[in-house]
Amino acid sequence: MPNTIIVGAQWGDEGKGKIVDYLTENADVIVRAQGGNNAGHTVIHGDQKYILHLIPSGILWPEKKCVIGNGVVIDPAALITEFETLGKQGIAISPDNLAISDRAHLTLPYHRLLDSYRESGLGGKKIGTTGRGIGPTYVDKAERSGIRMADLEDQEFLDARLAEKIDQANRILKDSGAEALKLETIKVELQTAHQRLAPFIRETTSFLHQQIAEGKSLLFEGAQGTYLDIDHGTYPFVTSSSTTAGGACTGSGVSPRAIDNVTAVAKAYTTRVGAGPFITENAEFSDRMHGMGREFGATTGRKRRCGWFDSVVTGHACRLNGADHLALTNLDGLDGMEKIKICTAYRFNGEVLTTPPARVEDWKDCEPVYETLPGWPDTATAGAANISSLPENARTYLDRIAELCGCPIKLVGVGPDRKETLVCD
Ligand code: IMP
Repeated sequence: MPNTIIVGAQWGDEGKGKIVDYLTENADVIVRAQGGNNAGHTVIHGDQKYILHLIPSGILWPEKKCVIGNGVVIDPAALITEFETLGKQGIAISPDNLAISDRAHLTLPYHRLLDSYRESGLGGKKIGTTGRGIGPTYVDKAERSGIRMADLEDQEFLDARLAEKIDQANRILKDSGAEALKLETIKVELQTAHQRLAPFIRETTSFLHQQIAEGKSLLFEGAQGTYLDIDHGTYPFVTSSSTTAGGACTGSGVSPRAIDNVTAVAKAYTTRVGAGPFITENAEFSDRMHGMGREFGATTGRKRRCGWFDSVVTGHACRLNGADHLALTNLDGLDGMEKIKICTAYRFNGEVLTTPPARVEDWKDCEPVYETLPGWPDTATAGAANISSLPENARTYLDRIAELCGCPIKLVGVGPDRKETLVCD
């Protein structure tokens, strides 16, 4: 398999974990290049369900190598908990199958507290972050005051940097009612983390270059989605990393010239968690999904907001990421519906837009233009063995999505299991 980037084409939670797991069979190295434990990738592998936050889902395959790249922000406590949870599920993790970049930044307790504090100060303008300290960690990175994995080796540097950061955080947090952070507690926490993680920390970029030189296949497991991208998303209702295809290169040190394929993953409808614009959101549709037990966040358990498929959003995402293919997941979520809508454009100030506007204020004034297609109320896509056995109306729906997004659909998900992935010819 060539070197492939998997990227979310909506607001995250598109089912990337399952598609990555499906494609991992033919990959050698699975790489995470951005985000942190704000991600929650649910994978049904064998007869077990796994939820991965920081570790690439390739870890479920004993013979594959996994890399947490330089662009990822790592909460060491969360990573160690993930080691333990996966260990209890029988997954072996060792430096033989996992490498952590020495350049990855650390998310520490003060980042988490600052995240919650900033959110609580935003009142009605909350971003609805996952509260995992992701934004404040990337702030430190951009401000050049972060702590990286390699720094764990240098106690003198660590002591000075921690003292400075904790003092700064305590000054900001003094009115929050939170107990003041103590340098000693965080130092001990970091020493414990260092002991556990040290064998995994290395210079991962040259490892990846070497793998490419040996003809191995890399699979980049994108986290979040295009519209949570710090540049291209619904700013400021975004995460703090580059979630688009380019982020896979900067976040791993692999050249764009080494990438052969980009697969954009989208749900057959749309969801988002947290606040921010969502033109096709529909309360009735959301209730239906939640009533079916679907669309609860893997990281926070929050109910996801749900709505119709938006080809403005997904089509633009395909272009932004240079997608070769779409993988469309959760088609079975539409089983039983009489009619299904697709948003084909936005009406905005008398104009018709097929690319989303820059400002969230303008998103609010956009009206969706819908096309209604017949559903497949009496037949199910769930359990379909192949594309040709899908109900005819489901195939028409897929064709229309591909046409509107200008991108062929290669994979279709009709259930949570890896086996419930259909390949289009
Ligand atoms: P943060 O990444 O925790 O700062 O949250 C910023 C925004 O991104 C919020 O709207 C979150 O709900 C959203 N977000 C972050 N990670 C994910 C994810 O993995 N899936 C879906 N939404 C996410």
